[in-house]
Order: sequence, then C-alpha cells, then structure tokens
Amino acid sequence: MSTPASLKNSLLHKNFQGKATMSEWKRICQVDDIPVLGSRRVSRPQGMDVAVFRTDQDDVFALLDSCPHKGGPLSQGIVFGTSVACPQHNWTINLANGCAKAPDEGCTQKFSVHVEGGVVHLDATELATLATDLTRPVAGPVGKKLASA
Ligand code: FES
Repeated sequence: MSTPASLKNSLLHKNFQGKATMSEWKRICQVDDIPVLGSRRVSRPQGMDVAVFRTDQDDVFALLDSCPHKGGPLSQGIVFGTSVACPQHNWTINLANGCAKAPDEGCTQKFSVHVEGGVVHLDATELATLATDLTRPVAGPVGKKLASA
C-alpha cells in the first residue's frame, strides 16, 4: 500500500507531552545553506522569526529568534558547542532546549527539527502555532513620540 501524497512529508514523532503525533514537516533549506557555527532565520506569517543553528558537528537546532533575557536576536549570536551566546548581553542559551545557562534563568521557545538527506525540516504545526503572540522588542524610548519635522 502506498503512502498518500499528503502524508509524504509526515513523520511520527513525540510532542511536548510525550504523546505520539503525526507531523507535517516543512522543508527549510539544506544543512550546507546554514553557516557552520552560524544560523539562518525563518520568517513566519505570524510571530517572530525562528533561528536555525548549525554546530561544528553539523547538528541543527531551532529556537525562537528571541533571547529569554530581553529578546535579543539569537540568530546574530555566536554558536559554540551546542550553545549560542546572545549578542546583547552575552547570556549562554542551550540550543537543545532554549534555556539560559545558570545563574541566568529563562527559556525561549524550542522548535522540532528533522534532517533527512542533508535537508532541514521544521514542524509546520509548530511554526504556525508556537509563540505566535510574541513580537520583537522595539528599541528606543518607550511612549515618546517623535517630533514632527
Ligand atoms: S537580551 Fe540576550 S542576554 Fe540580554
């Protein structure tokens, strides 16, 4: 019996509660499209971008592109081992779970990654539903209006 086309990119995996679910994987890029010890950003129709990281061992991880401290862009951080150093205040964020290294506290949203044949896939349902209510922090004075020219 053949697999229906609609399920071709679906794989069984475990969700956050450990229950088996069927996921639709969205093709993102080739692993080689991500710089070693670097990242690429994946934009979404709703919510902040997702940062996809590549380690020097070619492991791939995906986190919301927002530091748990003050929302710094983790995609612009420095990857080392299986961590990224936030470019804003140098917190160390674990790429596997999105959590800050102690004594710092807090976690950013993690996204499931599937790599097959050198192609990186993210879970389409997670992209559409996780952390979609968060927005990028705005730089500059809050509540002040710009003077008109
Ligand atoms: S915003 Fe990332 S360390 Fe402060």
